[in-house]
Amino acid sequence: MDDSNSFVVVANRLPVDMTVHPDGSYSISPSPGGLVTGLSPVLEQHRGCWVGWPGTVDVAPEPFRTDTGVLLHPVVLTASDYEGFYEGFSNATLWPLFHDLIVTPVYNTDWWHAFREVNLKFAEAVSQVAAHGATVWVQDYQLLLVPGILRQMRPDLKIGFFLHIPFPSPDLFRQLPWREEIVRGMLGADLVGFHLVQNAENFLALTQQVAGTAGSHVGQPDTLQVSGEALVREIGAHVETADGRRVSVGAFPISIDVEMFGEASKSAVLDLLKTLDEPETVFLGVDRLDYTKGILQRLLAFEELLESGALEADKAVLLQVATPSRERIDHYRVSRSQVEEAVGRINGRFGRMGRPVVHYLHRSLSKNDLQVLYTAADVMLVTPFKDGMNLVAKEFVANHRDGTGALVLSEFAGAATELTGAYLCNPFDVESIKRQMVAAVHDLKHNPESAATRMKTNSEQVYTHDVNVWANSFLDCLAQSGENS
Ligand code: ADP
Ligand code: G6P
Repeated sequence: MDDSNSFVVVANRLPVDMTVHPDGSYSISPSPGGLVTGLSPVLEQHRGCWVGWPGTVDVAPEPFRTDTGVLLHPVVLTASDYEGFYEGFSNATLWPLFHDLIVTPVYNTDWWHAFREVNLKFAEAVSQVAAHGATVWVQDYQLLLVPGILRQMRPDLKIGFFLHIPFPSPDLFRQLPWREEIVRGMLGADLVGFHLVQNAENFLALTQQVAGTAGSHVGQPDTLQVSGEALVREIGAHVETADGRRVSVGAFPISIDVEMFGEASKSAVLDLLKTLDEPETVFLGVDRLDYTKGILQRLLAFEELLESGALEADKAVLLQVATPSRERIDHYRVSRSQVEEAVGRINGRFGRMGRPVVHYLHRSLSKNDLQVLYTAADVMLVTPFKDGMNLVAKEFVANHRDGTGALVLSEFAGAATELTGAYLCNPFDVESIKRQMVAAVHDLKHNPESAATRMKTNSEQVYTHDVNVWANSFLDCLAQSGENS
């Protein structure tokens, strides 16, 4: 067996998306999202293998290596898996539930069955490739049951689980009709990791509450017991399961590969600014087009600032790049049409011929092109209603190590706990976004030293806590975990 198979990552998505052409050939492109951004450099460094879905239904190529040496094991999802497991349970049940009900989750038993079956499929794929005693790192909300299934199939494995999105308060989580199975699935791991201490505390409190409920249903009051006080630090808390295992629980804030986000080429930045007609202030938003990201709210804030004269249409532009995401799901369609309507309206009201005030792209850009945007931007707008971490915020600050630029950041993004030099806003309050946009522009112009200090504080945090720190702290903790109590 290949050496790569002693370190296995399993995630719903592979780092590349496959497109099948009419002649049966296929091409691949980078997959969207922060999970892939965070894990790709880790897999390259560990020369591990990655089990996941190649982004298209009903087909999957044979295992292959990427240019960077990562061995990929594609898992086939059928069209019906895609609907029930991916669009349904993962993204219309768990995603809204874990993001504090920004939209209402749908609880559908057929989707739950699809979720269980597909989790089994992923676990079987891992079981086939993982070497004896391998370390398996299970990723994110789509695979919450995989640790439990794998533990039964392969007790020899060291199993870690990391959640890339927020973990909600127990009061919200308890809505889920299948809450016990989900918690049990997660507790199949030796280590369960979250971005924030708050997420880990929510999980620990939940294991206590769900344990009580499970006991009254099935007459096993000691099914799950939380040992010690529910206090989590970086590492340290654990849950004891009925079969006598200790499951460690901890907080490990994900980060970026800082090498990839240095300053962009000066000439490319100058060309862009020229194309934009040399505005005084460039605002920037870069997101997947997801209703959690608060894209509409930042557009409304920009519009109202133009309306009131706090910003001048001749001097300010907003660039918004939105990667297409989960496009067949209703709330995503609505979100896209609201964003596009707002872009049209704002340009209709405040643009000139050949000089729109909002430049909007609905597509993915290369890392190089993103870097040019980050460097050209004066003020980055990251305004999610709720976000596990938000790597875009970290990419922007890594790009402004020289202290230029300002970050307006939602207090509901995980990144807000680390990026203390950001202009924090409440995205549920458009006035708050407006205030912080104006404050950032004001400081850049009239208080540049303070703005530079804030940005340097942010970038220092990211340079000293990069993706290697995240991965190594999780993997070190995993190596020490899982001993019987
Ligand atoms: P999420 O994981 O919810 O999408 P993050 O901000 O954590 O949010 O991660 C998004 C990742 O996707 C970042 O690495 C960012 O650079 C990348 N990304 C976002 N929008 C685009 C885009 N339009 N083109 C290319 N990459 C993008
Ligand atoms: C977030 C999730 C990832 C997911 C990514 C892209 O980052 O945490 O698990 O892969 O969004 O979403 P998608 O549905 O396209 O995989």
